[in-house]
Amino acid sequence: MALDLFSPVKLGAIALKNRMVMAPLTRNRAVAGGLPQAMNVTYYEQRATAGLIISEATPISPMAHGYPALPGIYTDAQVAAWEKVTDAVHAKGGKIVMQLWHVGRISHPSLLPNEALPVAPSAIKPAGKAFTYQGLVDYITPRALVASELPAIVADYVLATKNALAAGFDGVEVHAANGYLLDQFLRDGSNQRTDNYGGSFENRSRLLLEVLLAVIAVAGAGRVGLRLSPVNPFNDMIDSQPQALFSHVVDAINPLNLAYLHVVEGGIHGGGIAAPFDFASLRQRCTSPYMANLSYDKARGNAAIASGHADAVAYGVPFIANPDLVERFKQDARLNQADPKSFYGGSELGYTDYPFLSA
Ligand code: PHB
Repeated sequence: MALDLFSPVKLGAIALKNRMVMAPLTRNRAVAGGLPQAMNVTYYEQRATAGLIISEATPISPMAHGYPALPGIYTDAQVAAWEKVTDAVHAKGGKIVMQLWHVGRISHPSLLPNEALPVAPSAIKPAGKAFTYQGLVDYITPRALVASELPAIVADYVLATKNALAAGFDGVEVHAANGYLLDQFLRDGSNQRTDNYGGSFENRSRLLLEVLLAVIAVAGAGRVGLRLSPVNPFNDMIDSQPQALFSHVVDAINPLNLAYLHVVEGGIHGGGIAAPFDFASLRQRCTSPYMANLSYDKARGNAAIASGHADAVAYGVPFIANPDLVERFKQDARLNQADPKSFYGGSELGYTDYPFLSA
C-alpha cells in the first residue's frame, strides 16, 4: 500500500505513529520566569495525536528572548514546568521535541537583561517593529557579536539541550529559520562579517555546524532536527544566492545523520518569497528524513508523502484550531477555522477551547 500521512515513520531515533507533525507555534502564554503554565500543558496534551509535536520556539538563554511571555529552557524551574507538558503528551501516546531558539537581532532592550542591545552577526537594523510589553516599537541596530563570544552561545545551546532532555523531550530541533540568529548568520543580507563567520558559504554556515555538533554530542544525532527557511523574507531577510547557499548547508549537514531536516518551503505570514527556489532539488540532496512545511492541506500532504518529496508534513495554523487534526483528516471532517486575534498572547480563549469532533 502506498504511504500516506497516516503511515508510521521513524525520524532518526524518534518513532512517529503518523506523519502529521504539529509545527512550532509561538503563542506567548508563559508566566513570569519563562515558565509554561497549566493551560500550556492542556494545549499540548490536546494535540498529542499528532505523530510529533514540535514545541513553540523556546529561548535558550535570557539574551535569546525577542517577544513577551515566552517560555524558556535555561532554568531548573523551567525544566520542571516543561516536564508537566512532556508527561502529559507521553501519557496520551504522543512524541514531542523542543525547538531551540535564539532570536538574535529580532529583539529589543526592553526584553533583554539589563536593557542589553540585541546581538547579531552584523550591526544591521532589520526593517519592521519589535513586539514588546509596551507594544510595537521600531527595531534598533543590534550589536555585532565578536567571534570570542560565540562559544558561549554554543554552550547555551548545549545547556538548553541537556535541559530539554531532562524535561523529558524526545529530542530537539535547532531553529535556523525565519530570520532568527542562526539564519542571520547564514544569509548575506544580515551577515556582512569579514572573519571566519562571514563571507563564504562555509563561513556563514560555521556557527550552525558548531551548534549542531555540540547539540548532537549531548542528544545523539537521532534526536536532533534542524529547521531552515531558504527564501522566507520574514524579519527582513534576503540572500543573494539562496539555492547555492542552502545546497551547501544540506551537503554540510548530510554527514551528521540528523533525525530530520524541516524546511519552510516559502514565506510565512503571507509574506511571499524572497526569490524563486527549487525545493524538490533541495530535498533530493538531503539524505536525512525531510519534513515539509507551509500551507499543506490533506491532499497536498498525502501527495508529498506518496511521491517521496516528504517523509513527514508539519501543519501550523490547522493544529491551532483543530486539536484532533489527525482524526479530522482521517474522516475528511470539516475543520475549525483559526482566529488570528488570539494567536499571540491571551488566555485559554482561542488556545485550549477549539472543539474536538466529538464535542
Ligand atoms: C512569530 O512569532 O511570528 C514567529 C516566531 C518564530 C518563528 C516564526 C514566526 O520561527
